[in-house]
Amino acid sequence: MPFYHRLGDIPKKRHVAFRKPDGGLYYEHLMGNMGFTGPSSLLYHLRLPTAVKSQSLFQGLQWEVDSDTTLRNRHFRLDGLKAGGSFTLNRVPLLFNSDVAISMARPDKADDFFYRNGQGDEILYVSDGEGVLESIMGDLSYSSGDYIVIPRGITYRLKPAGANRILVIESAGFVETPKRYRNDYGQHLEHSPYCERDFRVPEALPVHDEVGDFRIVVKRENRLYEHVIGHHPFDVVGWDGHYYPWATNIEDFEPIVGRLHQPPPVHQHFQAPGFVVCSFVPRLYDFHPEAVPAPYNHSNVMTDEVIYYAHDKFMSRKGIEYASLTLHPDGMPHGPQPGRIEASIGKDRTEELAVMIDTFKPLRVAKGAQDVEDVAYPQSWLEE
Ligand SMILES: [Fe+2]
Repeated sequence: MPFYHRLGDIPKKRHVAFRKPDGGLYYEHLMGNMGFTGPSSLLYHLRLPTAVKSQSLFQGLQWEVDSDTTLRNRHFRLDGLKAGGSFTLNRVPLLFNSDVAISMARPDKADDFFYRNGQGDEILYVSDGEGVLESIMGDLSYSSGDYIVIPRGITYRLKPAGANRILVIESAGFVETPKRYRNDYGQHLEHSPYCERDFRVPEALPVHDEVGDFRIVVKRENRLYEHVIGHHPFDVVGWDGHYYPWATNIEDFEPIVGRLHQPPPVHQHFQAPGFVVCSFVPRLYDFHPEAVPAPYNHSNVMTDEVIYYAHDKFMSRKGIEYASLTLHPDGMPHGPQPGRIEASIGKDRTEELAVMIDTFKPLRVAKGAQDVEDVAYPQSWLEE
């Protein structure tokens, strides 16, 4: 998405006969968003990408809503969720609406099938761990702090090297960098907190010339389907274009600071229809001699605020820990807990690391999150 990229062998012109060494044709395949008007790539396969041997329903994914929907600020300790298992099948649903769905995955091994999301783009925030994202467009290695953006329709498989902890943000709409960071030519501007140098793209394209039965689990309308194809799905010899998985690290986000408190939009990392993703990173505090670095209390009208704490420190919160997740819904104010404002005055920096997701429609809490809820959190603003 961020810029034009090419990998492997492609013909000089698009839509011309591109032949294999044995004289046969490679199969050209356009993969693009927004009906031929959005970003796209052209891929060249060894075998027909349309050939499917069988299809069946694999499993439904109806996310159940928490039974106690009483309006309150909420805190979930995600470290308490079961670790291990499949990245695709053992994601724990946490929060969702029609624009975005947030879940936690803690895979420790690669799936023995491939995966394709046919209903949404995915942003994977790698909270800890490392591995390789294998995809139809090549291999992309990842490590802690990476955001991996996987546009819909791209067949991939995550290969964790050991235990991974990944916050999965699924978007019904197209995920991109904020428009205000880019000029009319798509380039990131000087005031953007990051630029093209901070993006990583698939760096190697292993070509798998293998026949046999290969399973692809495809997500569509909240169901998983199993498609069996007669060849390895990663049979692309080359591709080029603007549509591919890419990664950028939260540590490469250069914080914007000011003499007085800067509002959350300065921390914005991604935009998508119906929500934004912001990164709170270690930074110098406000430098006016009387500045209050902690945020003021605020009512985020027409926004539900979600924060995932990727570090056990966060300037305005107490009682949170690594892998905590808070939800501050519309309809009530929130802000620093007692003592946090005073404690922030005179401090010169923060080590906080957190991912914030602000949604414009109300979020529902999924039942699975209830098991790790901190029920004392709604009263944590009461003075002792
Ligand atoms: Fe807030």
